[in-house]
Amino acid sequence: MTNQTISFSLNGEVVEIAVSPSEMLLDVLREKMHLTGTKRGCGKGECGACTIIFNGKAMNACLIPAMRAKGADIQTIEGVESAHGLHPLQQSFIEKGAVQCGFCTPGMIMSAKALLDKNKSPTKDQIREAVSGNICRCTGYVKIEEAVEDAAVKLRASAVKGGDL
Ligand code: FES
Ligand code: FES
Repeated sequence: MTNQTISFSLNGEVVEIAVSPSEMLLDVLREKMHLTGTKRGCGKGECGACTIIFNGKAMNACLIPAMRAKGADIQTIEGVESAHGLHPLQQSFIEKGAVQCGFCTPGMIMSAKALLDKNKSPTKDQIREAVSGNICRCTGYVKIEEAVEDAAVKLRASAVKGGDL
């Protein structure tokens, strides 16, 4: 089957790219668009390293056929930082020591961001559920949960001040 040019919103900008029916979105992001922050771990939906936000939901890019991106709104880790600097999640992961080797971190942050975009006061259980598809071989998850809780506090404080972090 032949390549098709599709367009979609990527980190707030409309992009166009030719994709083949057999390509997965993870490969298009990493190999064609050079957005290597989205990691390839298992390649089969089991580790969460490739998590992106696809139409508002955390999803594994390794399981999404690239053609499905047509018209979608996609956010990758490269789009999380704003003009104000690091996103509170990025700050909190650093401050709380939730990053060791860092391989799982982009996927963790995207899963957590999908949660905090909708719910800035999540319970511990909701945080655990949100990152339950993300495997970390280094930190043991406690610091990751603390970082997400801390980011939620920062986001709530920013909302009170009228910020747009
Ligand atoms: S690389 Fe996609 S879930 Fe592991
Ligand atoms: S920090 Fe190394 S896998 Fe999570």
